[in-house]
Amino acid sequence: MDEIDLKGFSKLSRKERFQKLTQLGLISKEDVKLLLKSNFLDKDLAEDFIENSLGYFPMPFGIVTHMNINSKDVVVPMAVEETSIIAAASKTAKWVKSSGGYIRANRISKEGLGQIQFPVLTNAETFVGIVNSNSAQWVELCNDSVSNTLFKRGGGVKNFSPRVLKREDGKLMGVVHVTVDTCEAMGANIINQVCEFMRAVIEEATAETGSLCILSNLVDTNLTKVEVVLENIEKTLGEKIEEASIFAETDPYRAATNNKGIMNAIDSVLIATGNDWRAVEAGVHSFTNKDGKYTSLSKWRYKEGKLKGEMTLPISVGTVGGVTRLHPFAQLSMKIMGTDTVDKLCEVCASVGLVQNLGALRALTTVGIIEGHMKLHIKNLTLSAGAKETEAPLVQKKLEEILKLTKRISLSQAIEALSEVRLRIKEGSSGGVKDVPSK
Ligand code: MEV
Repeated sequence: MDEIDLKGFSKLSRKERFQKLTQLGLISKEDVKLLLKSNFLDKDLAEDFIENSLGYFPMPFGIVTHMNINSKDVVVPMAVEETSIIAAASKTAKWVKSSGGYIRANRISKEGLGQIQFPVLTNAETFVGIVNSNSAQWVELCNDSVSNTLFKRGGGVKNFSPRVLKREDGKLMGVVHVTVDTCEAMGANIINQVCEFMRAVIEEATAETGSLCILSNLVDTNLTKVEVVLENIEKTLGEKIEEASIFAETDPYRAATNNKGIMNAIDSVLIATGNDWRAVEAGVHSFTNKDGKYTSLSKWRYKEGKLKGEMTLPISVGTVGGVTRLHPFAQLSMKIMGTDTVDKLCEVCASVGLVQNLGALRALTTVGIIEGHMKLHIKNLTLSAGAKETEAPLVQKKLEEILKLTKRISLSQAIEALSEVRLRIKEGSSGGVKDVPSK
């Protein structure tokens, strides 16, 4: 295999990085132009945020309309590339509103979680006793020192608790859980600092040897609950949505897709607000598996015209720290939402997640997912096929006809449609497209 030597790449200037990659044949002069064009921010944040940066990966940025959460209209910003997400969320939010229903969301707990590992305990019982009896004193110690700034802001370390886990070799492992109210920050750094600071203290008190100090993304101590209710729903539709929900509650294969749909919305808001969506993804999926069976995040039930959805999930976000205050789009997103609090951001994420889920279930139980997805996808295919502005409407029309007939559409059909359109234009007839292939 050819070796690609990129030693010292991070020390190079942006221009030198482009030269290096061009020499290696990894990018062309055209690619360099594209990368240079991708930076439209006043300040080159990429250099500050990551190593080896080349430029930016622009993503569509838009808003979900018609969301009304806790009796207040909220415009929800999203950064997302998947075609139908914003359209489906807006349409479904409008449906909830017009049915006379509501969306109610509430952050019900708000502590981050850290872990200190003690790989092999010599005396598990003593370890548990010492951690329990020292918890209050250690909380005070942290809040006087390592978490003092947070404590002064109204947060800080809250509790230390021991866990004992059986390893596969039969030995016992100790884990100390630290809960921290991180106020308006997601708090990864401060939680890790608290854990690292406390390892030596706990080692000394317990005479056990510690190892890993790291936050946990399974933040069942930081939960947001949301309820979506629709009124006057037709019985057949309501029951079908309930059945679709039971499918996801029962079968992990369906649950994964159901939950992916929920995260379509949540991740898009997290990206738009500069939050760590990987952390939330990890937390959400492990949370649904907490009883040893991966299941649906959401639950929908229908009764006498009323369709009710519920969901409780861990959402660990910040409105300060990380890139949240540095990235101008993250700031713009918070401004559009009209808030700067973590509580509100959690409520918005949970609400839009459950609304997105409802939109998917409604489509799946009625027209099917193809219609909503593919209609918008036609635009993408038309662009991917290389259609110019004047050609695009004709190609789209042809693809819509194919979709209607065959229920599917592909890039090769878009390319074929484009060549036909070009041929007709060339022949001087840009009129309607008559023949539709049967495949
Ligand atoms: C596609 O991105 C998301 C869905 O598959 C979600 C679902 O099936 O519930 C439509």
